[in-house]
Amino acid sequence: MRILVTGGAGYIGSHTVRQLLARGHQVWVYDNLSYGHRGAVPAECLVVGDLNEAHKLDHLLLSERIEACVHFAASTYVGESVRDPAKYYQNNLTNALTLLECLRKQGVGRFVFSSTAATFGVPEKMPITEETPQQPINPYGRSKLTLEYVLADYAAAYQWGFAALRYFNASGAAADGSIGEDHDPETHLIPLVIQAAVGQRPHIEVFGTDYPTPDGTCVRDYIHVDDLGSAHVLALEKLQPGQGLRFNLGIGRGYSVREVIRTVEEVTGKKVPVKEGPRRPGDPPELIASSAKIQRELGWQPQYTDLKRIVESAWNWHKSHPRGYADRPKSNA
Ligand code: UFG
Repeated sequence: MRILVTGGAGYIGSHTVRQLLARGHQVWVYDNLSYGHRGAVPAECLVVGDLNEAHKLDHLLLSERIEACVHFAASTYVGESVRDPAKYYQNNLTNALTLLECLRKQGVGRFVFSSTAATFGVPEKMPITEETPQQPINPYGRSKLTLEYVLADYAAAYQWGFAALRYFNASGAAADGSIGEDHDPETHLIPLVIQAAVGQRPHIEVFGTDYPTPDGTCVRDYIHVDDLGSAHVLALEKLQPGQGLRFNLGIGRGYSVREVIRTVEEVTGKKVPVKEGPRRPGDPPELIASSAKIQRELGWQPQYTDLKRIVESAWNWHKSHPRGYADRPKSNA
């Protein structure tokens, strides 16, 4: 297939692009490089552009005869979304609607969407299945859930086939250590703990030690970024017109913040300086996915089923790129 990947130079996008290319698809990465990295994708795939540039998108879709779209481009910081909801509705909804309309005009109705566990809010029962009510508690989650609704309407009215993939905690890096996680600012637990282990940060602050969990810290379902990538490839290849697929993506097992810290210590052989702090507002105590539906319906199987291997891959990336993509040659960074 000839595939447009928006946000394809970002963390999850770049790992998915590799898999699409390995499957023999042709890929055009459309990315404004606000979060993405030039060095994360093959130069010949990259088109630098913004989702609000409808003319640019129109031209690309038409001239390259695009047949499908995988849409990653979005703002993804929960805390920022509370402080600046306009940015989230603009980037994640208005700009996404521009993209959808460009696709619709060109008759492209095959679409895979990056959704999130944040669409579920604070569910009472674990694990979270596709039947769990979606009640997001922040603008980020609401912007993503709204696009899920929009896609359902497009599928019904225009025969689009779409998949909404709700990621739990994306983590890890490519097995060969050549691409990985590099956010600015970095807010995600595993890279922050690794940075604390090697002295790039004074310590890791544990956000809350009084949660109703076995050790008092939050529990999350960490899923390897390459396992997310393989889910996108499967969903894209299996989609039928008029079909709306919704899948939760995790490994079905939760790890606490303290367990993550211990695992980083084990993998790196270094002691992590820890400071216990208050809860971070908006953090649910526990988020664990059931991915039984995608396993059953698409035959998806995660290759990384324990935290240690996920952390090993993140450590491998960190060792070769201690400052992320800044450690790539300038022309490629
Ligand atoms: N944490 C700390 N200290 C830190 C950073 C994180 O204790 O310095 C804790 C958090 O409180 C949380 C866990 O580590 O319990 C994981 O935090 P992350 O920020 O790595 O990930 P989140 O679970 O907050 O966020 C993830 C995705 C978001 C998504 C959200 C859904 O990264 O995109 O899940 O709830 F919106």
